[in-house]
Amino acid sequence: MAPAKKRKSRGLKTKAGDSLEKFRPVVAYAPSPMIMADRAGTIVLANARAEELFGYAPGELGGRKIEALVPPRFRDAHPAHRGKFHEAPSERAMGAGRDLYGARKDGSEVPVEIGLNPVKTAEGDFVLASIVDITERKALEKRLSQTETLAAVGGMAAAVAHEIRNPLGSIVMGAKALARGDLRPDDLKSVMSVLVGESGRLNRTLEDFLQFARPREPKLQSGDLNATTREVLAAVKSDPVIAGKVVVEERLDRKLPPAPFDPDLIRQVLWNVIRNGFQALNGKGRLEIRTEALPGKVLVRVSDTGPGIAADRLEKVFLPFYTTKTKGTGLGLSISRNILVAHGGELSIESEPGRGTRVDISLPLSRQR
Ligand SMILES: Nc1ncnc2c1ncn2[C@@H]1O[C@H](COP(=O)(O)OP(=O)(O)OP(=O)(O)O)[C@@H](O)[C@H]1O
Ligand SMILES: [Mg+2]
Repeated sequence: MAPAKKRKSRGLKTKAGDSLEKFRPVVAYAPSPMIMADRAGTIVLANARAEELFGYAPGELGGRKIEALVPPRFRDAHPAHRGKFHEAPSERAMGAGRDLYGARKDGSEVPVEIGLNPVKTAEGDFVLASIVDITERKALEKRLSQTETLAAVGGMAAAVAHEIRNPLGSIVMGAKALARGDLRPDDLKSVMSVLVGESGRLNRTLEDFLQFARPREPKLQSGDLNATTREVLAAVKSDPVIAGKVVVEERLDRKLPPAPFDPDLIRQVLWNVIRNGFQALNGKGRLEIRTEALPGKVLVRVSDTGPGIAADRLEKVFLPFYTTKTKGTGLGLSISRNILVAHGGELSIESEPGRGTRVDISLPLSRQR
């Protein structure tokens, strides 16, 4: 592990010749809880705010061990942390990246943030701890994350209901018509195709939702991205409604090296991105698909000459359920990006309104974690 970066103390300017007395007013009149302790962990100065925070009477903290303020489960390890700090003293946040708690006199705990400053004096080395009570911030964070979760669940439920209601409605109507038993052969055929088509759509929607809610780990195997791209392009183009009169240019790099990817998942990404391109073109214009070998990665670039995406909408296209299409779930790009991230790759979009959109999908040549 790399050694922690040492920062020069910018807080307190101290000289080895300063006396501890100099710090008494600094600590006493500080607007927030402050405690100063010696190398042995004995509290030499504590202001009223610190005593209040930890539930001690005025003057009661002085002379106690700093470990009295550490919750029992972390207490044993604390002297070692203290020792390390004095070996390489620097201004730093205590317990960076971990949730810190202080222990009150009555045994209750308070979430805190602690900044440590080394202080050299004529009487020896000390550490000045400035403490912030983050009880309210923690409570707010918790409420926010609960609200966000609820909002996400609500959004998901509404979208699921909406996506399921349409095909289900068609299926119910078709089934009723069949039940009446008076359909002419031609109508019978079209009702049957509605039933098959709409139940397929239902199935795909549910699969999308599941993939979004519980993305699966990619099963990597060395594969030819050109072949996968070609295959998906052919499948999308085979739908005449989608393909229309769009001119498709296929520029696949013949020297593209094999890359590790999950063919099913990458097919899903390409399917969505290529379909998005065709859908944007609405039957006319040009769609270019190229592959390219770049240092350490392979790239598939899908460019269309469609209407493009305005800057304020571009930020939203990766949001789940964001769609401008009547039959879209708006999950395509968020699932696609998640899949790429799980591969250690990237998916990015550039767009110029009125000129078109370019989507870059890149996959690393070796597995990066
Ligand atoms: N090539 C593109 N040109 C213009 N707009 C695009 C393009 N690709 C995506 N978008 C915009 O981004 C939105 C989100 O795309 P995304 O693929 O996530 O969902 P969707 O295509 O609407 O629905 P789904 O993919 O779930 O069927 C689209 O509705 C569209 O507004
Ligand atoms: Mg899409």
